[in-house]
Amino acid sequence: MSKRFLLRDALAQFPPYVPGKPPVSAPGLTPYKLSSNEHHLPPLPSVVEALTAASAVPGNYPDPSAGRLVADIAAHLDVDAAEVVPGAGASEVLSALTNITLEAGTSVVYPWPSFEMYPILASARGAEKRPVALLDNGRHDFQGLSAAIDDTTRLVLLCSPNNPTGPTITAAELDGFMAEVPPEVIVVLDEAYMEFATDAEAADGVAAFRRHPNLVLARTFSKAHGLAGLRVGFGIADAEIAGALRQVIAPFSVTAAAQAAAVESLAKVDEVAVRAKEIAAVRDRFAQDLRDLGFTVPDAQGNYVWVALDAEAAVAFEGACAEVAVAVRRLQGGVRVSIGPDEALDRVLKVAAEL
Ligand SMILES: Cc1ncc(COP(=O)(O)O)c(C=O)c1O
Repeated sequence: MSKRFLLRDALAQFPPYVPGKPPVSAPGLTPYKLSSNEHHLPPLPSVVEALTAASAVPGNYPDPSAGRLVADIAAHLDVDAAEVVPGAGASEVLSALTNITLEAGTSVVYPWPSFEMYPILASARGAEKRPVALLDNGRHDFQGLSAAIDDTTRLVLLCSPNNPTGPTITAAELDGFMAEVPPEVIVVLDEAYMEFATDAEAADGVAAFRRHPNLVLARTFSKAHGLAGLRVGFGIADAEIAGALRQVIAPFSVTAAAQAAAVESLAKVDEVAVRAKEIAAVRDRFAQDLRDLGFTVPDAQGNYVWVALDAEAAVAFEGACAEVAVAVRRLQGGVRVSIGPDEALDRVLKVAAEL
């Protein structure tokens, strides 16, 4: 088709982002959306109050530097404020990371399957995409990732816990890998789901960041803090990298309401952690129930469980869940089920038992 406008050629190479489907309704059944790894509990009451108060003056721009939020994150993680970069979700921080590193002629290495935005962002920059298949157990293949790096590589993306398969990256795996990566190449550890991880061996991102200046952390208030709709996340990066990120992130991208809610949620981080660990306990039981039914479920460390299925079985699983008003996420190689209320998970287990 001839182009009417002068759009970039790279746009033709874009994999589309397919959001989690909403549930279809079924007579007599409450619909549940277990397709986007959202928090199924309402935010803490004081967070709702902070949000409401901050929404009262929509005519004013927010603090462009999100100064209070940055200071609180820095104090909480014991890093320098200059190393904290807020954004409209971890997505904006990831986008900015590709923006400061990638262009035509460069390459980006990442595990696959993993977060769907990685190839989309790489495509937007016109960079060569180098997905490296996960191991059969859903873990990162660090030998493969190292082998994929060459002198065109400007960015490596890692995801712990990995979305959609579930396992975390261990401290030993991360340190071993960082020793192989040239120190000028930026490695991102996407920790969107870190609060749900219970694996004692899991890498502690902040400790690893202190050991490896080229490691950047991507974190979010969308998942364990339950603020996905407000769009607020942040990066932790060496001050030089952080400065470059701030150059490309749009001013005022984190709204006043999002800043206020995130500040309050961080003040209640102990309660957030307790809720996250409750979700983790439900996740562990649910994963084990699926394994007991004979399904292949890798180690689950986020607020979701991955059921490895061939394409036909995945379609059948997703379809049977939809019939009982539960939306799950079908991706390449299986189905991902977010942890939701017991009633929703019981329905999924019933479906699984009948398949
Ligand atoms: C692994 C991973 N990273 C980052 C994000 C982006 O989260 P947000 O932009 O809502 O902070 C998601 C969202 O699903 C995710 O799964």
